Parts: sequence; C-alpha cells; structure tokens
Amino acid sequence: MVQVNGNYLKLKAGYLFPEIARRVKAFSAAHSQSELIRLGIGDVTEPLPSACREAMKAAIDEMGTVSGFHGYGPEQGYFWLREAIARNDFQARGCAIDPDEIFVSDGSKCDSSNILDILGLGNRIAVTDPVYPVYVDSNVMAGRTGEAGGSGRYAGLSYLPINAENCFEAKIPEHHVDVIYLCFPNNPTGAVATKDQLAAWVDYAQKHEALILFDAAYEAFIQDDALPHSIYEIDGASNCAIEFRSFSKNAGFTGTRCAFTVIPKSLKGKAENGEMIDIWSLWNRRQSTKFNGVSYIVQRGAEATYSPKGQSEVKNLVAFYMENAEIIRQNLAKAGLKVYGGKHAPYVWIKVPDGMDSWGFFDLLLAKANVVGTPGSGFGAAGEGYYRLSAFNSRENVEKAMQRIQSL
Ligand code: MLT
Repeated sequence: MVQVNGNYLKLKAGYLFPEIARRVKAFSAAHSQSELIRLGIGDVTEPLPSACREAMKAAIDEMGTVSGFHGYGPEQGYFWLREAIARNDFQARGCAIDPDEIFVSDGSKCDSSNILDILGLGNRIAVTDPVYPVYVDSNVMAGRTGEAGGSGRYAGLSYLPINAENCFEAKIPEHHVDVIYLCFPNNPTGAVATKDQLAAWVDYAQKHEALILFDAAYEAFIQDDALPHSIYEIDGASNCAIEFRSFSKNAGFTGTRCAFTVIPKSLKGKAENGEMIDIWSLWNRRQSTKFNGVSYIVQRGAEATYSPKGQSEVKNLVAFYMENAEIIRQNLAKAGLKVYGGKHAPYVWIKVPDGMDSWGFFDLLLAKANVVGTPGSGFGAAGEGYYRLSAFNSRENVEKAMQRIQSL
C-alpha cells in the first residue's frame, strides 16, 4: 500500500484557523440566533480598491482580443510588475533591489513554506514563540523536526520566547542557528522592530552565515516613518535575508491572491561539498518547475496599487483598519485589559484576565459576547495567556464587538 509522509503525522490536531472555524461552527449550530462578529483570522473585509478593479476589468477585456490575449506568463512575474515593486517598495526607501530579484507569487503563506524546498534538511531553524504557525508546521511537514513535546513544541526547533516581560523582542540566540524566521510588524503580537533591532539580527546572521526569512506582509501598517519597512534598509541584509511581501492586507487581495518574494542575487548558501551556491538560481529553478505564475489579470490589479489613485486608496484602507485597531485598543484598555500591538499592525494582542487561559477566554467571548478572536496559545506555548483580535472588519462590527465586550 502507498506510504504517507510520516512527518504529517507529527502535526498537532489541526491548523489553528480551521480549528477555530470548527469550534465556531459547533457553537453556531447550537445557538442559531447568535450574531457572531469575527475578529479571528486576519482576513480583510473592505472592497478592493477601484484602481485595482478597473485595471483587472481592462485586463479581462484585453484577454478577449487576439492581440491582447495572454497564455502562460513568466513564472517569476511580469517584468512591469516587478519593476513597479522594485521602484516603489525598495528603491524609494534606499534599498538596492532590482526587478529581477523579485518573484511574484500567489501568496506569502505559500512562499514562506515553499522556500524550504531549496534549503538543506540539516539546517537548524529558529522561530519566535508565539509565531505565525505556518513557519513551524511547514518545517514539520518537511521533516526538519522531531515529535511535539507536552507543550506542543517540536524537538529540533529553537524557540525564542516573546512576551510582555521582554517587550515582545526576541533575544538574539547565544547558540548557532542556520535559519531565523522574523515577522515585522509581527503576527500575532503586533510588535514592530526598529532599525537597531533588525541590525542586530543581520549582524548575527552575518557572523553565523545564517539566513533570515523576513516576513513583511504587514509593513504597510507601520505608522512611523523612522521604522524600517524592509530588512534591506539594513546594511548587509542582502547577503543574508529573503523578504516576503503581499498585496493581501494592504490592498485587500486575500481572495484575489498576489504576493512576492525578494531574493537578492548576492545571497549565497553552501552545498554539502562546501561549494558556494546562488540562492536566487535555486529559487528561480524551483519556481520555473513548480509554478506557472500569477494570472495576468491579477498582476495588472496588483500593478494598479502603485498608480497615484491606487496609492491613495491603499493608504485609506490601511488608515481605516488602523482606526479599528485603535478603537479595539482603547475599549479593551477601558474594560481593564492589558493590550499590546495595534499601533503599527492590524493585530491587538491581549493579556487574558488572571485565572483564565487562552482557549478559556476564547470560549468566554464566543459564548457571552459572540465575538470570535484567536487564542494566543494557538501561536505557540509562549502565547498561552494571550488572545489576539484582528482589526480587519467593518467599523460597525468592531464598535459592536467592543460594546459587547465592555458590557460583560
Ligand atoms: C492570520 O490571521 O494570522 C492571518 O490570516 C495569517 C495569514 O495571512 O495567513
């Protein structure tokens, strides 16, 4: 009989968000009158910018003509989109990133998992705890870990705790690791990194010949221009970092699907025989074999985010969600809860009241306020005792959710 990949059997019950959906479904079935407000998964709710819609409509019309029809596109993305990204997101901030160092894709979740294809199995991996669960689960699936222990932590991974005591700033490891996942603005804690903090990681990576996998999916939510949006704002980062970016959260593309990964050509890894290898070439080879690119129509939509109209609409969307975050922060603080994040990120990270755990608080808010959030323990053992609310919802729902929580 066919054998399955035994690494999948090491995974804990279910991916966090489907598990929440399962519990919410069971609750709704038993309480059909309850009107739930979902502030759990970080999925956007506001309509797509009209600049993107217009560009996509025009692209559909083009596709209906012989001269404007597009079949397979380049696996790396159309050059005009890669150029717009390089110019607006990197060169405008002083980062020397070229268009051909940008690989357009259908999502950062996919890219941050798929990147493991080109990295050796023997690498020692570090993640923060709590952390976006995809980084951990994709390493488990790839066979880079042992079994999960009692706390849910997998043998073989290095966990770097982040909590209120260390201001959600992971301590740079004293031991050697080969790959470090960093996410700023952070999912789930909403923390943000300064240039000095990122420079310390780049310094570590250079000394240890390590690779930083930098997830900047939420960079558009940074409110202070002195804070870095890209790891390439730090000297030396293009020799030790890969960056993941997305149109999902800034331009509402969670359902439309478009993202990109930056792999500088100067980035090197080592083969088993010690030979230096270009990481860019391996990723290019991987994408050319396993990926057929993002649709022409969607890439035209993504390109439109860089037009003057698109830029202004994206700015308004981000401002709208950040006002939601502020409403959540203020109301929960008034309700006597300790809140973190939500200033440069669309996530508010909440310390649950004494005597409760994360799932207990999740169940309480679900049952008594009909509000769905995300239990902090779902992001890792050190997330126990915390709870995350997302600012992605309508103003009306956010205000209603806050009234319900206040009145508990
Ligand atoms: C989350 O809620 O953490 C996000 O939905 C993550 C994601 O974008 O996959």
